Amino acid sequence: MASSTWQLKNNYEHMKIKICISLLMVLLANGISAHQPKIKIQSIAPGVIKLTMGTPDKFSPYTFCSEKPKVEEMNQLSNTPLPFDLKDVVVRINSRGVQIRIPLNDEEQLYGFGMQIGTFEQRGLRKRPVANDTPSNTGFTHAPQPFYVSTAGYGVLVNSSRYITFLCGTNQELSQQNPNQNEQDKLKFSTQELYANQTQKKMSMWIDVPTAAGVEVIFFQGKSLLESVQRYNLFSGGGAMPPMWGLGIKYRVKGDFNQDAVSKMATYFRDHQIPCDVLGLEPGWHSNSYSCSYVWSDKFPHPQEMIDELKEKDFRINLWEHAYVNPAAPFYKDLEPMSGSFLVWKGLVPDFVNPKAAAIFADYHEKNLVDKGISSFKLDECDNSNIMDAKATWGFPDMTQFPSGIDGEQMHQLFGSLYANTLAAIYKKKNQRTYFDYRSSNVFNSSLPAVLYSDIYGHNDYISMISTASFGGLLWSPELRDTRSESDFIRRLQTILVAPQAVVDSWFLKNVPWFQLNRELNNKDIKYENADQLEILVRELFKERMSLIPYIYAAFADYHEKGIPPFRPLVMDYPDDRKVRSIANQFMIGQNLMATPTTMDSTARTVYFPAGTWYDYNTLRQYTGGKSYLIEINTDKLPLFVKDGSIVPVAAPLNFVDDKSVFEITCKVFGNNPAPFTLFEDDGITYNFQKGTFNKIVLSVTNGKGSIERKGNFKGKRYDIKDWKFLK
Ligand code: GAL
Repeated sequence: MASSTWQLKNNYEHMKIKICISLLMVLLANGISAHQPKIKIQSIAPGVIKLTMGTPDKFSPYTFCSEKPKVEEMNQLSNTPLPFDLKDVVVRINSRGVQIRIPLNDEEQLYGFGMQIGTFEQRGLRKRPVANDTPSNTGFTHAPQPFYVSTAGYGVLVNSSRYITFLCGTNQELSQQNPNQNEQDKLKFSTQELYANQTQKKMSMWIDVPTAAGVEVIFFQGKSLLESVQRYNLFSGGGAMPPMWGLGIKYRVKGDFNQDAVSKMATYFRDHQIPCDVLGLEPGWHSNSYSCSYVWSDKFPHPQEMIDELKEKDFRINLWEHAYVNPAAPFYKDLEPMSGSFLVWKGLVPDFVNPKAAAIFADYHEKNLVDKGISSFKLDECDNSNIMDAKATWGFPDMTQFPSGIDGEQMHQLFGSLYANTLAAIYKKKNQRTYFDYRSSNVFNSSLPAVLYSDIYGHNDYISMISTASFGGLLWSPELRDTRSESDFIRRLQTILVAPQAVVDSWFLKNVPWFQLNRELNNKDIKYENADQLEILVRELFKERMSLIPYIYAAFADYHEKGIPPFRPLVMDYPDDRKVRSIANQFMIGQNLMATPTTMDSTARTVYFPAGTWYDYNTLRQYTGGKSYLIEINTDKLPLFVKDGSIVPVAAPLNFVDDKSVFEITCKVFGNNPAPFTLFEDDGITYNFQKGTFNKIVLSVTNGKGSIERKGNFKGKRYDIKDWKFLK
């Protein structure tokens, strides 16, 4: 395999030289501080400015970005300048490392730092985005991103893989104290008052990058928060374009299933006409799984027969693994000299920074798994064992040394990204699209066709992470597993079906979760009393998801071409509405739909409607925007609302998406004078769309009549527009 990291570096150099608008200025110390070092300011892409101070670390995240910026598309965005003067950015370099101060205005709200849990609005908080398998509101996360975006219309990215702390308008320095400020603090005695979160006014962002002798900070301009996110996504190569089958249903079987059990599960789905596109195999397929051998276990005596049988039934296969290489792995000896100085589960930690190590790992996967018919992988445990728990010690220590020179701390921050990119490159080379599950990411991964997941099972967190992920070009996949009650089951089911990936993760359940909700009883084959009714509901709701695939696929095309996240919080679409800033439990899907999932505790939930009229997708009931309503969320439909003036293409649901599936589409029109809607039509499985092989099908309504315009050079047909329904 051509080494991916080698290419990455080359691309970086290439880009540095090529971007025509690159200009170079050296600012002298601006007098704000005697310690202010020289700062080099470069425009590195349209609306993207890089500040370089001191000598940055060698292993910065951008070094590993495999994609080039989509310069042309970035040029389509506005050229609104940053809302502050770069001269007001203060930098210190000292024995601690680098500290940076960036102005904040009193009104702006901040978001980001990767897939954060427990906090959505980040203003007034101290965040430390560090790779950890147990997320916490400190910033520990599966996707530590040193990147935040602001409602004032800009993004800031610290291009470093150190454990960085961001003080988001919390603490101020002595030098920032206003001597004229004569405020008399009232005496405080309660601990609540004394330790209350500090005022957020008149503060700056402080960034603490320890151990570094210099750093690069990248600023993304935008006229709004959304535009700065778009710019970041386009700079990273544009958003990911999953294969069409990736938007269907994925079912992961129990970890210890054998070949026969997998085959029976496949038959169950097809015989019961329950939509399913992907079957995921968990650890039991390896002869050794903690660490991994990547060799079929004796539970699977004839793996090729199984692969062929599942293919015959139109299933794609996804294999679980992690990157810790067991001595039983056939490539162990070759990899040994290119591995970290500490082991994980007695396995090697590949030095993915070294192109040769990545090539050994990827070549084995390509020849033995991908070429044999494996469509995707689940990349587990590429984060770190919980560093808040002294007993959780499987992760390699931060002091680990890798032959390439990267250390354990930097490797932890980048590991998920490097690992996923190493394997994704195999598929790209084969011109075959994939959709991975992975448990850790970093920055510049917008174009990576992969969804993040977690062992946490908090339903509210699952919902809010769909929004949180989108600030940094990430996709999040909540899961359905065992449940506490029927209502817990139904609500979680609804949530997975309005997410970037719809997955049932039965890795510890022998039977499907609707056969028996309770884990112990499920594994004893004891059927739940309402199992048959639940199966009917599952079939219906899975079909609803399948009917939205063309719509969601169009949202992904906008992600790829314009950098607009397909699943995103309301704060991106309604920048002038202050009420949406804190809303993390409802989100936009594509151009027209708003999802409002709820949890088991509530049959009704508060739904806020931004400006305009909105329709219940199912009942067509109308709501006036700018207000909140308490709404009963149906249990037998998906929790969706539609913006007035929308065309939503809805497909006759398929049980799976094969390479030639044609979706029969009814265009549902909500309101008068709807905005045109553009479907993206291509083969859905290769990268030919990047060479221009696709069609755009513009659906529009004039004088109450629907019309279709298909343009492009894709010769096949994935959509058949059958009907128009004018609903209001
Ligand atoms: C966990 C992972 C689960 C499942 C399990 C299998 O680490 O998060 O989704 O794959 O491993 O052992």
